[in-house]
Amino acid sequence: MGYPGRLAALLLVAATATAVVAHNDHGEHKNYLVIVRTPYEYDRNVYKTVSSWHASLVASVCDQAKEQLDADPGAAERLIYSYRTVINGFAARLTPDELHHMGEKDWFLKALPEQTYQLTTTHTPRMLGLTGPLFHAGVWNRTNMGEGMIIGILDGGIAGAHPSFDGTGMPPPPAKWKGRCDFNRSVCNNKLIGARSFYESAKWRWEGIDDPVLPIDDSAHGTHVSSTAAGAFVPGANAMGSGFGTAAGMAPRAHLAFYQVCFVGKGCDRDDILAAIDDALDEGIDVLSMSLGADDAGDFAADPIALGGFSGVMRGVFVCTSAGNQGPSPATVANEAPWLLTVAAATTDRTFSADVKFGNGLVINGESHYQPSTYVSVQQPLVMDTAADGTCSDKTVLTAKQVAGKIMLCISGGNLTNLEKGSILHDAGAIAMIIVQPEEAGSVISPKAHALPATQVESKWLEKIMAYVNSTQSPTAQLVFKGALLGNRMAPVVAPFSSRGPSRQNQGILKPDITGPGVNIIAAVPMPNGLAQPPNEMAYKFDIMSGTSMSTPHISGVAVLIKKAHPTWSPAAIKSAMMTTTDTRDGRRMPMLDQDGLPANLISMGAGYINPTRAMNPGLVYNQSAHDYIPYLCGLGYNDHEVSSIIHPAPPLSCKQLPVIHQKDLNYPSITVYLDKEPYAVNVSRALTNVDNDVGVYAASVELPPSLSAKVTPDILGFRDVNQVQTFTVTIRTKDGQKMKERIAEGQLKWVSRKHVVRSPILVSSKKFFKENSMANNGQRVGDS
Ligand SMILES: *[C@@H]1O[C@H](CO)[C@@H](O)[C@H](O)[C@H]1NC(C)=O
Ligand SMILES: *[C@@H]1O[C@H](CO)[C@@H](O)[C@H](O)[C@H]1NC(C)=O
Ligand SMILES: *[C@@H]1O[C@H](CO)[C@@H](O)[C@H](O)[C@H]1NC(C)=O
Ligand SMILES: *[C@@H]1O[C@H](CO)[C@@H](O)[C@H](O)[C@H]1NC(C)=O
Ligand SMILES: *[C@@H]1O[C@H](CO)[C@@H](O)[C@H](O)[C@H]1NC(C)=O
Ligand SMILES: *[C@@H]1O[C@H](CO)[C@@H](O)[C@H](O)[C@H]1NC(C)=O
Repeated sequence: MGYPGRLAALLLVAATATAVVAHNDHGEHKNYLVIVRTPYEYDRNVYKTVSSWHASLVASVCDQAKEQLDADPGAAERLIYSYRTVINGFAARLTPDELHHMGEKDWFLKALPEQTYQLTTTHTPRMLGLTGPLFHAGVWNRTNMGEGMIIGILDGGIAGAHPSFDGTGMPPPPAKWKGRCDFNRSVCNNKLIGARSFYESAKWRWEGIDDPVLPIDDSAHGTHVSSTAAGAFVPGANAMGSGFGTAAGMAPRAHLAFYQVCFVGKGCDRDDILAAIDDALDEGIDVLSMSLGADDAGDFAADPIALGGFSGVMRGVFVCTSAGNQGPSPATVANEAPWLLTVAAATTDRTFSADVKFGNGLVINGESHYQPSTYVSVQQPLVMDTAADGTCSDKTVLTAKQVAGKIMLCISGGNLTNLEKGSILHDAGAIAMIIVQPEEAGSVISPKAHALPATQVESKWLEKIMAYVNSTQSPTAQLVFKGALLGNRMAPVVAPFSSRGPSRQNQGILKPDITGPGVNIIAAVPMPNGLAQPPNEMAYKFDIMSGTSMSTPHISGVAVLIKKAHPTWSPAAIKSAMMTTTDTRDGRRMPMLDQDGLPANLISMGAGYINPTRAMNPGLVYNQSAHDYIPYLCGLGYNDHEVSSIIHPAPPLSCKQLPVIHQKDLNYPSITVYLDKEPYAVNVSRALTNVDNDVGVYAASVELPPSLSAKVTPDILGFRDVNQVQTFTVTIRTKDGQKMKERIAEGQLKWVSRKHVVRSPILVSSKKFFKENSMANNGQRVGDS
């Protein structure tokens, strides 16, 4: 796309904006997503395009021109988006009166008021560094690093000119690519093939979005996420001057199509998200990665990620989403629809080691990102905030004369962030800072780059430290920096912030699905903030972030590689391949832990931690088509109109004509059952598809707590041909036929052959959790019928 065309588009947009402002209506306009009742479709003899039809629907209720569109050209501008694929409907600016009139139209199904989604990052410790290739070279070799695949990313903005998005050596995008890149020619290339901003809805809601046109913003989020998924090789990247190496994304030769839908300090507008997905699906992406969600997970018939994701899955696009960062409280998981992959976050085996050695010889492990070589590691006087609660929240404590030349101990919390405390201490002449982490963080440390030499230690050490400080008139301490160390055998540990199940909308499906690396992830940024003196040029280009936002693109990148190796696999097959081959043990070969040091449960880690090498070759998969979700949706209690609007553009249908699929029987790679009524036994049915070229004989084995029993029928499955499908049933019951003693029990089903282990987690519960949070109560609907 050349310059002249874009300029014209720009002018058009500007003219439109003026017209809308001038449009004089009664009452205040608000943005609504309007869903049209199926089977209403546009008459191609009357309207050339779906958008002219949608404009006519808006015009039919506009205060100024009730008769027809011709009489009110302004109506066209009241239409924000006209959707083609994701739903049968449009986004429009409407007054309360118009909304009321619309509610009387026979084509009207419902109107949803505007809603804001959020990017799912928690921390931005603002440090620099690098990531080396995480995965087994064999996976890259087999998949040619994702060459020829297109990954679509919805996020906040991208630093297009970053070396991670350098197109040197990349082939042109495949012929099916229909998207466009709005940056100039020196930024758009064969790596960054798409870059657009979707703000038509957001600009009405928030000040400061004046047709940004280019998908750039001040936050590093979109750049970080994109480079994690598909960043090119960047030699010389480094972590604080140590550990030099080469940075690369999971699929370094895949093409990137970037869609900005979020704006710094504002969030992501639902109707913009829908519009971006609508276009991305038409433009030819293979995998869609969305590190965003809403805290109050809405029902699938109103959620852009669920609605757009369904259309994606219908087209064979793999859709990967973040679980959210509302953990560790239960029932906080976002993006719960079973056709989405929902990703939790855990630590990696890398630590940024910075020990503290106290005057009595006590050594405590801590972590820090800023480990300047100028720090002289000798015992220095240690002081703490004795005046108040120990959090150093009182600036007078931090600036008092006595901190100069000393090491200050501060407990996390209070009115100041730890970064702010560090900055004040630095200015007051303190030598270093020791931060005691908040208790909720448990063993998971997200080290930051503080303004002075510092280290962060687990809260469990506080008592020992206090005992030492109390024991002497003149306590001392020194920091011992060890740089970035690999091989922490405790990893992966599920992050405290990672949102937990159970699912609120479909309690019969285990969510989150899977866990990926999402703590202290180093990837590309436009420019790290806050650090005074980056040690070298490359250090300007990488930074560290944590969140399920960071684990999601890791898994999206792996999905690209699997899809490259197995182009005919459905999204459900790819998901199954990942979920049945995970690791559930850590580097010590012990069960993976959570931040409290307890074994991570299924509602925190899903099936477990991604193992890309095994996911490439799972042996068997739990497959299904997009169509197979439909009877499941009927079973969830959605009415015909809602189901039809979710599955649009598939033809509308009636649930009555379909067999019911209960949640437990959806052909999902994990199993969730409720033993909540007599006879305290449940049958679960599943079907396995052979994806190995070899003949395979698989034997079933089930592990459950002793109070429960399971029987698999048949318990041996033989596969002779590729794509051969075999079905089986698992009967799970309490051994004594009485009520379950435990509230929740966990186990697993394994199908084992000579070559493969196909493992599914099993969650058994004595009763449905959080009844009040389920389907019945899912947010405001305006004019719902
Ligand atoms: C894959 O590995 C083979 C054998 O080691 C090697 O010859 C080939 O160049 C590798 N291919 C790629 C794309 O790295
Ligand atoms: C292209 O865009 C980049 C980033 O916006 C800018 O730095 C560069 O100067 C532009 N180059 C040209 C030739 O306009
Ligand atoms: C925190 O701020 C509040 C309100 O400004 C104030 O009342 C309180 O004393 C502050 N706490 C500390 C520890 O400084
Ligand atoms: C240390 O002394 C403080 C104040 O004298 C007291 O509150 C605290 O309990 C003591 N802590 C330990 C671990 O001895
Ligand atoms: C899975 O099901 C889809 C849709 O029915 C089909 O296209 C695909 O071939 C099946 N097998 C795999 C491995 O994806
Ligand atoms: C499970 O299936 C078996 C065999 O079809 C049947 O006999 C049994 O009644 C079923 N149990 C339940 C709880 O539905």
